[in-house]
Amino acid sequence: MWLLMLVFVSVLSGSSFALDNGLMRTPPMGWLAWERFRCDIDCAHDPKNCISENLFMDMADRLSEDGWRELGYVYVNIDDCWSSKQRDDQGRLQADPKRFPGGIHKLARYMHDRGLKLGIYGDMGTHTCGGYPGTTLDKIQLDAQTFADWEVDMFKFDGCYSNASVQEEGYPLMSKALNATGRPIGYSCSWPAYQGGLPPKVNYTQLGQICNLWRNYGDIQDSWSSVLNIADWFFENQDVLGPAAGPGRWNDPDMVCLTGVQFVPDSIIFKLPCVLSEHF
Ligand SMILES: *[C@@H]1O[C@H](CO)[C@@H](O)[C@H](O)[C@H]1NC(C)=O
Ligand SMILES: *[C@@H]1O[C@H](CO)[C@@H](O)[C@H](O)[C@H]1NC(C)=O
Ligand SMILES: *[C@@H]1O[C@H](CO)[C@@H](O)[C@H](O)[C@H]1NC(C)=O
Repeated sequence: MWLLMLVFVSVLSGSSFALDNGLMRTPPMGWLAWERFRCDIDCAHDPKNCISENLFMDMADRLSEDGWRELGYVYVNIDDCWSSKQRDDQGRLQADPKRFPGGIHKLARYMHDRGLKLGIYGDMGTHTCGGYPGTTLDKIQLDAQTFADWEVDMFKFDGCYSNASVQEEGYPLMSKALNATGRPIGYSCSWPAYQGGLPPKVNYTQLGQICNLWRNYGDIQDSWSSVLNIADWFFENQDVLGPAAGPGRWNDPDMVCLTGVQFVPDSIIFKLPCVLSEHF
């Protein structure tokens, strides 16, 4: 099984205020399921690779037992396809009962017992990118509270099946809703990636005030050319992106994975320790 690591780009600090939740004063590091495991839900035929609690517990074991946690890789993040296709009878999101029989709260405790943190995923459209229930504007408070009740530590808010006006309302609203739960939850916004990543459509001052990090650009694919493509884009736009970042607010070029090497591209804004190592 492949263990993929992700890190977020740290660039020069700007001066505007960051989201005031005390989190992510340094760029968050950890592991996210999407790049390798996608929406594999076929646990009957592919039990080792399907999106299930076992996958996240396995990764937690690797981070905590193989020295990664000590290097700062503490986030274990669920991406799309974790939920049931139906909300529960009180309208709340619920984990797929077959693939996550213990539920998300138990999985969060598994992380916390090991000094790790759990991240979860939602989408502000009618559906997630993979077709699971979305967090439309009317569901934002309920879903934020559900994640807090589960003791989740980070939330990635995707933007499939939404439009610019919904995003403009929804991303700040979710920031307020997460704050109102009283639980510090790192907030990752996919908003700029859906609006081309650059001003005037993207307001990085505002993003820094409402999100801890944001996806600026498209998904990374499992290829070197994809890594280079993303590196080029960040390089070309560093005058805009550099000042946007600082403690508590980071550009996120998406997870970067390479076989068995530490990788530091020779560019001004990039510092991407990037690891992918084989286990089992
Ligand atoms: C909520 O926001 C206030 C004011 O910005 C801040 O002091 C507080 O720490 C935040 N709480 C959480 C849980 O994010
Ligand atoms: C954006 O989506 C919302 C909710 O689905 C819809 O009510 C609105 O008309 C859409 N706006 C545009 C400009 O398409
Ligand atoms: C960007 O957001 C900031 C903070 O919300 C706001 O003060 C500023 O006017 C916005 N800039 C533009 C060009 O809309």
